[in-house]
Amino acid sequence: MPHPLAAVRGLVPRAVRRAGKDIIDRLRLWADWATNTRLPLDPPAELVTGIGGSWESGRRYLHLFRELCDLRPDEAVLDVGCGVGRMALPLAGYLTHRGRYDGFDIVRPNVRWCRRAITPRWPNFRFQHADIYNREYNPDGRRTARTFRFPYPDASFDFAFLTSVFTHLLPEDAAHYLAELGRVLKPGGRCLATFNLLNAEADALIDAGKCRHVMLPREGVYRVHSREVPEACIALDEGFVTDAARSAGLDVVPPIRYGLWCGRENGFEFQDIVVLRKSR
Ligand SMILES: C[S@@+](CC[C@H](N)C(=O)[O-])C[C@H]1O[C@@H](n2cnc3c(N)ncnc32)[C@H](O)[C@@H]1O
Repeated sequence: MPHPLAAVRGLVPRAVRRAGKDIIDRLRLWADWATNTRLPLDPPAELVTGIGGSWESGRRYLHLFRELCDLRPDEAVLDVGCGVGRMALPLAGYLTHRGRYDGFDIVRPNVRWCRRAITPRWPNFRFQHADIYNREYNPDGRRTARTFRFPYPDASFDFAFLTSVFTHLLPEDAAHYLAELGRVLKPGGRCLATFNLLNAEADALIDAGKCRHVMLPREGVYRVHSREVPEACIALDEGFVTDAARSAGLDVVPPIRYGLWCGRENGFEFQDIVVLRKSR
C-alpha cells in the first residue's frame, strides 16, 4: 500500500523535505534538552541488544585507548559508529572539559538516546545521526557510506576509534572511511579500529570450521556471514586494509593484535585490533 503522504511528497522538492526533517530534528533536540536532562545513564535494553557484544567492553576499550594510543584527557576524540554510548560513557569519566568527544551513527534512536542522556551532563560530548544505508542497521538509509563525508573539518581530531564498525562495512565503504579518517585526524593523530582480518591463518581456521561465525567463501578481498544481509558480519583482507590505510596517509603501528573471532586459540580481544597513526 502506498505511503499516505506519497502523493504530497512528490509535489515537495527533496531539498525542502530534507530541510524540514532537519528542522524537526533540531526542535526535538531542544525539547529533549529542556525536559530530559536527568534521563538514566543506562540505555534501554532493546537498544543495547541491537549493538551486540558485552556492555563491559567499554571500560576495557578505554584502557586500550590509553595504553595503545596514549589517549590523554584533554584531547579531541571521534567515535565513528558510536552506537548507544558504550564507549562514550567510560570516556565521559576520563576526558576533562578541555577534551571533546564527537560521535556519529546511522541508527537514529541510538543517537537520540545519547543526545538526551549524555550531552546534557557532558556538553563537550556531541552526537550526530548520519542517514547511511546499511542492510543490517539502517536498511532505509538515503546515503551511501562510500560517498559520505564525515561532518567535521580536516585535521580536527587527535584520536579516532571504530569498535566493531569495520566488521559491518563492505570493502569500498571501508576504504572510503579510512580515507575520511586520514582527512579528519591531525598530523600525528592516532586511530584504534577493530576488524575481522582475513589472512592465511584466519582463512585456514574459517575453512576448517573453527570460526565463531559461519563465513561464506571469499569474494575477492572479503567474506560475509550472509549474502542476504552482507553487512551483518564482514571480514576484510588484511593486505587490502593496510594498503587502503597507507593510501589514506595512515601508518599501521605494529603489532596488529589478532583476536579470537576466527577460532584462534589465543587472541587479544574478540576482534582484531589495528592501531593507525597519521603521518606528520
Ligand atoms: C556492533 S555495533 C558497535 C557500536 C559501537 N561502536 C560500540 O562498540 O558499542 C556497530 C555499529 O556500527 C554502526 N554503523 C554501521 N554502518 C555504519 C556507517 N556506515 N557509519 C557509521 N556507523 C555505522 C551501527 O549503526 C552500529 O551502531
